[in-house]
Amino acid sequence: MIPPGGSKLAGDLLAMREFIRARLPREEFVPGKSKIPLQEVMFGEEEILEALNSMLSTQVVMEKKVAEFEQCWAQWLGCRHAVASNSGTSALLLAMLWLKYHPATPQREEVLIPALTWSTTLSTALIAGLKPVLVDVSLKNLCVDSFAHAVTPSTLAMVPVHLMGHSCNMTNLMREARESSAWVIEDACEAVGTRWNQQRVGTFGQFGCFSFMFAHHLSTMEGGMTCASSDAAADVLKAMRAHGWVRDSSVGFRKGYEERYPEIDKRFLFCDPGLNLRPTELVGAFGIHQLKRAEEYIAKRRVAFQRITERLRPFTHFVHLFEEQPGEFLSPFSYPMVLREEAPFKRAALMNFLEENLIETRMLVGGNLARQPFAEEARDRIQVRGSLKNADLIHTNGLVFGINQSTDDAKIGYIAEVFQRFFKRW
Ligand SMILES: Cc1ncc(COP(=O)(O)O)c(C=O)c1O
Repeated sequence: MIPPGGSKLAGDLLAMREFIRARLPREEFVPGKSKIPLQEVMFGEEEILEALNSMLSTQVVMEKKVAEFEQCWAQWLGCRHAVASNSGTSALLLAMLWLKYHPATPQREEVLIPALTWSTTLSTALIAGLKPVLVDVSLKNLCVDSFAHAVTPSTLAMVPVHLMGHSCNMTNLMREARESSAWVIEDACEAVGTRWNQQRVGTFGQFGCFSFMFAHHLSTMEGGMTCASSDAAADVLKAMRAHGWVRDSSVGFRKGYEERYPEIDKRFLFCDPGLNLRPTELVGAFGIHQLKRAEEYIAKRRVAFQRITERLRPFTHFVHLFEEQPGEFLSPFSYPMVLREEAPFKRAALMNFLEENLIETRMLVGGNLARQPFAEEARDRIQVRGSLKNADLIHTNGLVFGINQSTDDAKIGYIAEVFQRFFKRW
């Protein structure tokens, strides 16, 4: 926080707050005139002032505020360790690099990944030198609820992706992982606050990865977090995040290396193959304030999701909707839908209509990643196990539009009315 000072400082602070408040975009929604974007402003004076304070202090490289954010996050989520990084992709990369370098099972390199996910769930496994295996998702929740049919003696890990705020069936997956001695890396980048049987996703596996990029539930501008369930793994992630040096890891971990290498300056003692994936201190500054908004944002997203779903349910002969499933507590990300194969119109017609009416859309994440150019070019290193029928349907027929903490009744009414106008044509 800004330190308390004399009345001059207090006055400056007040003026600064007002300055920021007046300049943050705050447009009144006018149906048919205002855009419904994928994301809207989600941070305020507190985040900006905290970041400004870090800049003015010149302490902008990762330090106390990042550590505070990690601590608050671990407490809020319910995980043992949290290691912040500069993106959700970096959070995944750290877990994948751990998998590549640390388990004592070199003959096992296959990592089971849903075919439908964001590009970097797959590309981080490729870049880490692992062998990705793509598996189809369920048309019930856009997730993989069982990897059993894809497990072989070469399976090293499973990567459940909690897509669009849904939860994978973690009861099944954790049992399957135990039975096959596979590690579990949860990609919860789109699922801040989602729960499976009351437990927050990202806390089931050995690693849980989150994104705080602008479009997500919470934002540190860009940013990510890897949760780790073991002390040893957290120490390694902290080293790999920052050049491979030991100095950010726990005392016990550090001491071993320092005693073995007394001739090396302990500040520049490198124990692991590292990168620089550190967040700046501004990420910590944003994160500690964003986290205070989490419950409110999640509650608002849930209301928006439920109200839109009620209005779209009469049209489920045209589109699949993805409602909250038994056992899960949905923390909606965007609003996904998939046109049924028998729908009398193409996805492009619906997307164009929505865009013409100022509702921003995207295809449903990366679609079937096996069909993306980077994966086609790496076909000799990526396997597909079983049919990818559902991922294919979603690839051609899936779309999303934005819902977020600002999706109020006026916007919901407008969105529903635009969809009704489109569907009435058919
Ligand atoms: C499922 C999933 N995984 C990983 C990522 C990567 O996160 P980031 O954009 O912070 O790198 C995203 C981001 O959109 C995502 O949706």
